[in-house]
Amino acid sequence: MRVGQMGQTPCVYWLTGLPSSGKSTIANALDLALFNLGLRTYLLDGDNLRMGLNRNLGFALEDRRENVRRLAEVANLMVDAGLIVIVAAVSPTLDQREMARAIVRNERFVEVFISTPVEVCEERDVKGLYRRARMGEITGFTGVDSPYEPPLAAELVVDTVCESAEDAATRMAQYYTERFGTTLSR
Ligand code: ADX
Repeated sequence: MRVGQMGQTPCVYWLTGLPSSGKSTIANALDLALFNLGLRTYLLDGDNLRMGLNRNLGFALEDRRENVRRLAEVANLMVDAGLIVIVAAVSPTLDQREMARAIVRNERFVEVFISTPVEVCEERDVKGLYRRARMGEITGFTGVDSPYEPPLAAELVVDTVCESAEDAATRMAQYYTERFGTTLSR
């Protein structure tokens, strides 16, 4: 890993949580907070990658597992290139996230549980998908008729009901400096 050249320790923040829990918002806020510390980052959003690299995948369990595997493998390549990678993906099962952790390796993995309760996610319903799932237009929707297994030992937990995205991002960036240290480039 190019710690020397980049002046930073690469790692992966893996944000998991229900749809509309706030993963993308917090991922973007974290991206900015790390940038402001002079760190180099890259954001991999499950939603966006499903338009390209993962566009042949649906939401059956096996497809989600493959989706998570590819996200983890790409994140791992970026770690190899020296970047701090932020992944935002529902990644609903414990074993999927254990796989991601194994691919990236434990010492570089920061699991972040976006713990917003399902009722709140459903109220927010950013893309109107909970409503469509309730109406039976979408089946196998996480939080409605497809399970979400909360992490048992995430490195960080963000409760978006009590904490703003900016405050959460500041706390997550502080975690980086405490765990990995930093030689700031600017
Ligand atoms: S994951 O489960 O494979 O990790 P990913 O994060 O890539 O999911 O994509 C989740 C996004 O896809 C949701 O935010 C939502 O916008 C959309 N989506 C469409 N159908 C579903 C579904 N059945 N379950 C969950 N999310 C869905």
